[in-house]
Parts: sequence; structure tokens; C-alpha cells
Amino acid sequence: MNFRDHNITIGSVVAELPRASKIFGGYGIDFCCGGHRNLSAVIKEQGISEEAIYLALEEAQKEREETYKDISFNTMSPTVLSTYIEDRHHNYLRETLPEIAELLATILRVHGNKHTELFEVYRLYGMLKSDLEQHLLREETMLFPSFEDEAANQKQIAEQSAIIITEHEAAGEVLEKLRHATKHYQIPEGVCGTYRKTFELLEELEMDLHEHIHLENNILLKNYDTRAGK
Ligand SMILES: [Fe+2]
Ligand SMILES: [Fe+2]
Repeated sequence: MNFRDHNITIGSVVAELPRASKIFGGYGIDFCCGGHRNLSAVIKEQGISEEAIYLALEEAQKEREETYKDISFNTMSPTVLSTYIEDRHHNYLRETLPEIAELLATILRVHGNKHTELFEVYRLYGMLKSDLEQHLLREETMLFPSFEDEAANQKQIAEQSAIIITEHEAAGEVLEKLRHATKHYQIPEGVCGTYRKTFELLEELEMDLHEHIHLENNILLKNYDTRAGK
């Protein structure tokens, strides 16, 4: 992806390069999964140093290519790719979702009276967690097994894809709200290590989810995504 192309949108950068969410956050650029604003226009509008942000994005892209140099998602069969997604991303969520929930409850108890925005973070996170838990089960029971005989299960895959892609968009919206509520995961002064750890894990979860959704929407389900101008 050429980030310097004037037609590139913020949403398409995050879909291709999940780490960009952190870079955009650092520059105070608002993004969302369906963000149609042009990157170059936003850079000008916000008076951001063009060269610095392009270099940061290019560096992150290089790192990503290095990490995945031996894995070619585009040539994997849907069955192999869905097994990879389950092993890598679903297992990660099953471990991390409850861990963050506990940490959030702890920091809310300790810091909630001073940092009242944590109540909103807690509420949004609770929604995200329960939506995702249902979502993982839907994929594992209704979608992934259908790829074992894709030709015979086209209708089922198309129906489930529509639901799954809509759920991804809903998760993307909650992630964006969480980013706002936490002021881009900025750690306030004078808080404890648990607070820091919670925000770090939340930001990591956001990046992992972008990566995960990218693999599902743009590779696994690319032939079933019927959204206009996706
Ligand atoms: Fe998934
Ligand atoms: Fe998914």
C-alpha cells in the first residue's frame, strides 16, 4: 500500500495495517473502520508533519511484512485460514477478554472516583466482550465448518458472512468509542501500574482485532462481502 497516494482513506490504511491505529492515535487522528476521509487531506487539515507520519506508517508496514514473510494468507485455503484465525486470534481473545475485564473492575474500584470516565470504559468494554464472545462462537459453529465443503454450503456461508461482517462493523464502532473514552489510551499521571497495564492490554486488543477482522473481511470472506464500496 502506498500511503502517499492521495486517494487513500484512513479506514483502508487501518484495515491493511492494524498498527496504524496506534500511529493515528498518537497524532490525534480519529479513525473508524468505515472511515472514508482521505489521509492526505486530514494530515493537511491537522497541520501534521507529512514526512514523519508517512515514515512511521512505512516503518510499521515493513515490520508487518517481516513478521508475515513466511505466511501467505492470500493463497491459504479457507479451511487452513480459519484454523489459523481460531488458533491465533480466537485463542488470544479467550485469554485476554476476561483478563482485561478483571483489571478494569480493579482500576474502576481504585480510581473510579477521580477518573469517572472509567465507568464509560467499563460499560463499553462489557458490551464489546459479550458481543465478541457470541461472535467467536458463531464463526466457530456456523461459518468455519462450512468451508469444509464450500461448494455445497455457499448459501449458508453467504448468510453468515452478512451477519459476521455487520458484527465486525459494530465491534469497530465500540473500539472507536473506547479510544475516545480513554483519550487514545493516554495514561493519566499518578496512577498505578495496574492502570497502565489495563490500557496497554486494551490498545493491544484493539490492534489484534483490526488484524483479525482484516483477515476475515478482506481475505476469508472476500467473495461474500456484498457491501457497496467496501
Ligand atoms: Fe474471528
Ligand atoms: Fe470475526
